[in-house]
Amino acid sequence: MPTAAEHWDAAYARGPQAVSWFQARPEVSLRLIDGLDLAPAAPVIDVGGGASPLAAALLDRGLSDLTVLDVSAAALAAARERLGPHAAEVTWMHEDLRAFAPERRYALWHDRAVLHFLTAEAERRAYADLAARAVAPGGEEHRTPGGAAQRFTWVVARRR
Ligand SMILES: C[S@@+](CC[C@H](N)C(=O)[O-])C[C@H]1O[C@@H](n2cnc3c(N)ncnc32)[C@H](O)[C@@H]1O
Repeated sequence: MPTAAEHWDAAYARGPQAVSWFQARPEVSLRLIDGLDLAPAAPVIDVGGGASPLAAALLDRGLSDLTVLDVSAAALAAARERLGPHAAEVTWMHEDLRAFAPERRYALWHDRAVLHFLTAEAERRAYADLAARAVAPGGEEHRTPGGAAQRFTWVVARRR
């Protein structure tokens, strides 16, 4: 049985554009995030961000406090490569979110297509607890449990 890191590294082995969830431009995420009117310094985390172009697009929009967390080193390497010298403007966390102990709070928690891999009830509960700890009061949690054929359900939630 491969570890989560091995599983996801293998998924990215043929390159970040060969994965089934590839999107050249994260249109829906950007539309939803644009609607949040975040301050440029608002801390944003993309959990399971992988090799997504979202971080690059948010940097372009002037957001300056970005974190991408992913269990796959291969995905993070591809994301960094895409950003070139701008990669240094992002905090990269190579870890399993199930063991993530956030040391700060985020204004925006973005999850596109990660939560739905947590199929055990205990894991989903732990995820909810984690997000509640990691999202600042008033912050937005934007997560995307995926469906078949990549027809995603998009959720924007505000923490009370
Ligand atoms: C379907 S992909 C989506 C990637 C990215 N969010 C996007 O929209 O392109 C799921 C991502 O979650 C990561 N992932 C899966 N389980 C994880 C975990 N337990 N902890 C951290 N990352 C995880 C995978 O490595 C992969 O990059």
